[in-house]
Amino acid sequence: MLKYFLYAAVPAVLALATFVWLIVALVRQCKSWRIAVGVFGVEILLLAIGYFVYFTPVEYPRTYLDEPAPETGSLAEIAREKSFYIGAAVNMADNPAYRKLVPSEYNSITPENYTKWRQLLANEAIGNYDFSKADAIVDYAVENGVRVRGHTLIWGKFSGRTYPKELDNLIAEAADPPAELRRIMQEHIQTVMTHFKGRITVWDVVNEPLSMDGVYLDENIFLNTLGRSYIAESFRMAREADPSAQLFINEQFGNYAGELVELFFDLLEWLLEENVPIDGVGIQAHNIFKTHNLDEFRQFVQRVADLGLLVEVTEFDARIRLFGEEPDPYQAQGDYMAEYARICIENPACIGFTVWGLSDASTWFDWVTPVNRMLPNDPLLFNVNLRPKPAYTKIRESLRNRP
Ligand code: G3I
Repeated sequence: MLKYFLYAAVPAVLALATFVWLIVALVRQCKSWRIAVGVFGVEILLLAIGYFVYFTPVEYPRTYLDEPAPETGSLAEIAREKSFYIGAAVNMADNPAYRKLVPSEYNSITPENYTKWRQLLANEAIGNYDFSKADAIVDYAVENGVRVRGHTLIWGKFSGRTYPKELDNLIAEAADPPAELRRIMQEHIQTVMTHFKGRITVWDVVNEPLSMDGVYLDENIFLNTLGRSYIAESFRMAREADPSAQLFINEQFGNYAGELVELFFDLLEWLLEENVPIDGVGIQAHNIFKTHNLDEFRQFVQRVADLGLLVEVTEFDARIRLFGEEPDPYQAQGDYMAEYARICIENPACIGFTVWGLSDASTWFDWVTPVNRMLPNDPLLFNVNLRPKPAYTKIRESLRNRP
């Protein structure tokens, strides 16, 4: 991340500022335009180098065998024996990889997008549900004895993306905003959980309650209208809607220690003190610009377990370019991924490890800026040919050793 800012983002901002300086100098006919041209030239050169370093696709040697997975002892098979879930996010029911790898390799799936509030609505109109895309994904899994994680009921981070934009207007215009928000949340949670009752057995009830910018809770429409009790209320509504479903809070952490983590544990402790019906913590684990400290991760998992809560790694991926300086990047990526998974698999409180995509052919990194330009991403467990990558064998071994 730091390198990206140093080489690409910082020169880009400086070049833009210098360009403005140049234009102003020219308009005012100041002599400083010559200096501006010189500075601008140097910045453009730096930018070109940055772009060359970061945005030129590279190819790393694939020393691992590009062969099909062994016929027996697949990940899903061993996971089932050990009451563990190896999962993947699935975006489209008709993705051929879905039929190829589920149920053979994955015994759990998460609809990547189609059980989100906005994507469940026809024309993004609140209350106007169209479950067809989600049903197609969910039904295939259920017919094949695969567990489905529901993702996600309440997610406040970005208006119009993580929840329907219409909600902002409805709440702004409501005579009693808290009451109106509670009514809409309750209706949403009730409708969706009832629709999937018996098919989706675990839900990310609240997603990303922490801020990305500082040590505080994300200041979204739910927090601003109801205070932190929006989290507690969401869980209560969810338990009432489907008492048999497991209920998770799902979060992404840049670090597994530090002030933000303490804030998260304060939140968990408060929820437990208030007897809020929460069953577990989902850890997203997107490794975008850096890998995580695995000792801190191990302690984090144990700390959640000590509170009597379950844990799942819900959205793992690790870009191959994070391992680009290693002698064998794909092997190093596999070692990291397997080690991360092992920490979860070894802890009895951790019941699932889900990767955020079926294979390297379908990863959100390939369309999101800037990493869609920093190719390859290849962050997952199977390559684009749906062949197992180096983490595969090691994860099987960890599963076999699960207590
Ligand atoms: O399909 C269009 C594509 O045609 C277009 O070129 C592209 C440009 O914007 O947009 C594509 O649609 C995007 C879709 O993902 C593609 O899969 C949507 O705009 C975009 O909003 C959607 O983003 C999803 C994002 O959550 C927001 O809901 C990602 O797929 C999904 O992987 C991501 O998942 C989140 C988890 O829910 C929560 N944790 C973080 C994780 C990663 O951001």
